[in-house]
Amino acid sequence: MSRIIAAPRHVRRLADCHNIDDFRLLAHRKLPFPVFHYIDGAGDDEITKLRNTAAFDECDLVPNVLAGVEEIDASVTVMGKTTPLPLMLSPTALQRLFHWKGERAVAKVAEKFGLWFGISSLSSVSIEEIGAHYSGPKMLQYYYHKDRGLNAALLEKARAAKFDAVTLTVDTIVSGNRERCKRTGFTTPPRFTPASVLSYATKPRWALDYMLRERFSLPNLESHVSAGSGQAISIQNYFDAMLDPSMDWKAADKLRDDWAGKFALKGIMSVGDARRAAEIGVDAIYISNHGGRQLDGGRAPFDQLAEIVDAVGDRVEVILDGGVRRGTHVLKALSLGAKAVSGGRLYLYALAAAGEEGVDRAVGLLESEILRGMKLMGAKSVADLTRENLRRR
Ligand code: FNR
Ligand code: LAC
Repeated sequence: MSRIIAAPRHVRRLADCHNIDDFRLLAHRKLPFPVFHYIDGAGDDEITKLRNTAAFDECDLVPNVLAGVEEIDASVTVMGKTTPLPLMLSPTALQRLFHWKGERAVAKVAEKFGLWFGISSLSSVSIEEIGAHYSGPKMLQYYYHKDRGLNAALLEKARAAKFDAVTLTVDTIVSGNRERCKRTGFTTPPRFTPASVLSYATKPRWALDYMLRERFSLPNLESHVSAGSGQAISIQNYFDAMLDPSMDWKAADKLRDDWAGKFALKGIMSVGDARRAAEIGVDAIYISNHGGRQLDGGRAPFDQLAEIVDAVGDRVEVILDGGVRRGTHVLKALSLGAKAVSGGRLYLYALAAAGEEGVDRAVGLLESEILRGMKLMGAKSVADLTRENLRRR
């Protein structure tokens, strides 16, 4: 997928979107460029972001036929919740900047499809509101802040709002080097710089929504840090100033104890760390490099999957996160032993492109790709997808 996009002439409206890449083109058309590049961009040279998706192409699916596939069951059980599809919506920050409905739109679609919905510590809709209005399985993604009062408040809010799981992100000890954001001057809330103001002005629909709808905020942080209170800050500055780089296994273990519910680590990449996660008794791990937004030059989650499943798959649920753009990517990950796959941009481009309708169409497309793919693979259930179905080139 190229970094600079040619004018997306063939993708002008929702009905033109037939896959996740089409949504990316429409998002590019709809968003002021600093916002688009915040979503689309990644660390340094963005090698890892590209690898995350390219890795799937180094394996080929090997189908079985004559399997009688009129009834397909694609359900999986992750952290105690059964979902009809092996797909999870990864937690992502700032969603009301991408479309004014933000997390509310994504939650509605997750609910309709019965999927796990994760909200970020930096969500633009509060934990309380999601808890009150979203009945599907919900998870809070937890950033470990220097401010222990904020950490305790996040956990208490998740408990009070009856969240089903907490996920500690472990790959964001400092910010990755997001050069696109440096060039565009992206901040949250957006600061209109001489370089970017034209981009906001040429996207009047976005600009009017931003100015006239509910004021943008990061409600989970508001009572603790100025970043929630309207002061413009770059994500890089936020991470570097607010997150605690002393976070270690003891801290993860303590958080698991304090939460005392379903608990996952997001950002595990090495077999050794997967083993330690199993030792401290986490329920799930996300094999993830944050969509390539942190350490560039790191390996793709898909390339680490088999080794990690072999090491801990009998003790910990292994979720593959990152790079997924097609139903066949999901089938490849399941064939190697992932419990489920999770993704961010796969629904964020659609949110930016067309709000709730966009997310609904994107998840619907992935659903049909997964179900069609399972039929073509001769797999009636996820358990029928095994390593026999996959060959490295
Ligand atoms: C993210 N991601 C992320 N992860 C997290 O733990 N907390 C967060 O607040 C965010 N925010 C965020 C914003 C945006 C715009 C993106 C694209 C990603 C990472 C996310 O949860 C997930 O790991 C990646 O998106 C996976 O890669 P793909 O699916 O985008 O390729
Ligand atoms: C990001 C965050 C907020 O990747 O995790 O931008």
